[in-house]
This record gives sequence, C-alpha cells and structure tokens, in this order.
Amino acid sequence: MITKQKGTYDIYGDNAKKREYVNSVLDALCEKYNYGYIETPVFEASELFHRSVGETSDVVTKETYDFKDRGDRDLTLRPEGTASVVRWFIENKLYGNMSDPVKVYYNMKMYRYERPQKGRNREFTQWGFEMFGSDNIYSDAEVISLAYNAYRLLGLEDITIHINSLGDNESRKNYRDALIKYFRPHIDELCDDCRERLEKNPLRILDCKVDADSDILKNAPRTLDYLNEESKTRFDKLLDLLDLIEINYQVDTSLVRGLDYYNHMVFEVYYKNSLALGGGGRYNGLVETLGGPSVPGVGFAMGYDRTLEVMEEEGINIPINDSIDVYLLAVSENEKDSATYIAQNLRLNGFIVETNLLDKPLKSQFKSVDRYNSKYLIVLNDKDLEKNEVVLKDNKTKEEERVEINDLADYLDTHM
Ligand code: HAM
Repeated sequence: MITKQKGTYDIYGDNAKKREYVNSVLDALCEKYNYGYIETPVFEASELFHRSVGETSDVVTKETYDFKDRGDRDLTLRPEGTASVVRWFIENKLYGNMSDPVKVYYNMKMYRYERPQKGRNREFTQWGFEMFGSDNIYSDAEVISLAYNAYRLLGLEDITIHINSLGDNESRKNYRDALIKYFRPHIDELCDDCRERLEKNPLRILDCKVDADSDILKNAPRTLDYLNEESKTRFDKLLDLLDLIEINYQVDTSLVRGLDYYNHMVFEVYYKNSLALGGGGRYNGLVETLGGPSVPGVGFAMGYDRTLEVMEEEGINIPINDSIDVYLLAVSENEKDSATYIAQNLRLNGFIVETNLLDKPLKSQFKSVDRYNSKYLIVLNDKDLEKNEVVLKDNKTKEEERVEINDLADYLDTHM
C-alpha cells in the first residue's frame, strides 16, 4: 500500500468543511482591511529563499525541499510566503506607482522538512498578508490588528501579542556587535551550528533549538537595550497605538524570530500566553535584498492548521453544513430517469440533492435519507410521474405536499 508522506495530511470530510468556514471568516476580514488575494507558485528559484529567509536560518539550512528539475534548474518548494510575495512585487514593478500601499493576503501550502510533531508538519498551510510602501507605526498597528482580530473572530478569545523591536540598521548593528562580544567567551559551550552562527549571524543563536534552555542564551543581551533613540521612540509610540486600539500585548525582549529579514517590530501571536500560533514583523530591507528598490514591507503569517486544531481542542463551534436539501428515492428505470432529471433541475437552482446511485432497495434508501440528514424526501413513483407530479415530504414534520415537477424549485425556495 502506498501511504501519504510523513508530515503530510489529506483534507476531507468535516475537516474540509471546517476549513471552508475558517477561510470564509479570514477572506471577509481581509476584505475589511482592503487586502487583495494572491497565490504564488509552489516552487521558486532556490536563490529566492536563500537570499531572503537567510543562509543561517534553520528554515534554509535544514528545512527546505530543494531539488533540480529536468532542465537542471535549482528549485525550492516555498517554505514561507513573504519571499514569494516580494518576488512578485518586484517582478511586476509595483513599486513604480506607490501613491498607496500595496496590500495582499494569501492562504497557501508551505513546505518545511521538519521533524513532524503536534502542530509541526512538512506540508502545512499559512494564512498570511504583506503590505508594501508604508514605513510608519500606523501600518505596523494595522498589521498587528488584522492578525489579532483574525484569531478573535475565529473564537479564540485569550490572545496575547508578544512584541519586540530589533530597531533600525544602526541599532541592529550595535546589537549584533554586543552579541558577538557576549557569546565569544562562551562559544565552546554552544552547539556546532551556533559556533558557525557567531560570525555570520549571532542573532540566530538566540533561537537555537539545541541550546534553548542554556543560561548563556537566557542571559544574553536584549535588543531593547541597544535601540537608538529614534528606534526606541518609534517602538514606544507603536505600543501607545496598540493601547489605543485595545490590543492585548506583552513586550517580550527575547523575541527575535527565526527568519533573517526583520527590522523594527517583530511579533508573535500567543494563545493562553503559552502557544505560538503565528508570527510576523517589519522587513524594510527585503525588497532591496531581492533586487528591487528600497521599499518598506511588513506582514504576518498564521499557522493555519495549528490554529484550527486549537479551535477544535477548545470546543469552539465551527459551523458546518452537515445536511442536504432533498433525497430522491427511486427504484424503477423510469423513476431513476426522472430522479436524474429532477436532481439536475434542483441543483441548478441551488439545492443540495442526492439520489439513489447504488441501485439500492427502497428500505435502505430511507436509511440514506437519515444518514444524509435530508430536509426533504421525494419517493418517486410512476403514477405521479405520469401526471408530472411528486409528493414532497418534510423529513422533520412529516408533512406532505403534492407539487408539480416544474414548480419544485419555486416551492422549495419559499419553504426553506
Ligand atoms: P514563521 O514564524 O516561520 O514566519 O511561520 C509563521 C507560522 O507558520 C508559525 O507561527 C507557525 O504557526 C506556522 N508554521 C511554521 N512552520 C510550520 C510547520 N512546519 N507546520 C505547521 N505550521 C508551521 C513566516 O513564515 C513569515 N513569512 C511570516 C511573515 C509574514 N513575516 C512577515 N510577513
């Protein structure tokens, strides 16, 4: 038997219906914030992710699905959405007319070669959004507010935004120097990867999974102590804005995020202050890094699957349609022909209709009516059909009504 790959899953049944509901909530919310939908290709040039997400990040060094196609091109399955959206932004020269910000959102499968565990898969979905062209705290606040409201609209009330600032380029450099100075005397006590990270990108040592619990990491310098005046004022003003729009946040000085492209504010969304369900931040240098002009960017991505799992664990009511409108019971050839005709007609008029596709006897068709939770049923019979009529039965009240076949859709429209 061929089975699905480790860390992947099939989406079907109630789970598919629940995702439809979650998508509809997220789509409607993005519309309110005036973000347009974007979908990018599943694979891109490997260089795109190596240059943006960062050569020293775990995502690129250990987790990408890299392969060569038959034309010998180096390709990578997208591990995240931001780099792809930036590529799209540059390729379409959208920076040419920046009289308004460019705002897009996505709901896409991502691929990371991770050790599968609860909430971590190799194929997973991110709902995320990006904004280009604005470099002020108002766009920071809008992005945080959109992320925050998404979880709350999905029924997860106890949300805290963990937020930190990495500052502007000068602050980041000061901080980097401080980290190198701090870690150098301890470097033999850290893992092999961290030794390599020290010179290339000491920030990455801070989110090392191997050394996460070591005191060396816990006592490392904090970004906020290295912000210059401008970056500090900016961060304080952003926090004031978050107070103004009543976002529940907590400054988390240890938060640096696992991808290399961030500056200024970074944030993660926590449920019950213990479970991270998404993350984002500002990335003002990324468009330039990927070959475009200097255009600021900011965005966020939700771990979609984990969020849905938590909604289920918390018993949040996810409305799904688990009923059909009409079941047509038919036995003779003439009845089955008529069922096909009536079903075609009703479906085109917007009703959910099921028929007897297994040549089952009447008794087991009645069982299907209940299994499908059908609102109405029609037992077709040759006598009624001769008169172009059927008897429509309400499955709950058991009331019956004789209706002309051509009037069925209108009748159901007024009675449902
Ligand atoms: P990220 O923190 O790498 O950020 O991923 C965002 C979210 O995706 C995580 O918080 C997590 O919930 C979910 N996620 C990541 N890896 C997995 C996995 N293996 N299985 C299931 N869920 C996972 C980014 O990807 C950035 N592009 C976010 C961003 C957008 N920053 C600015 N704009």
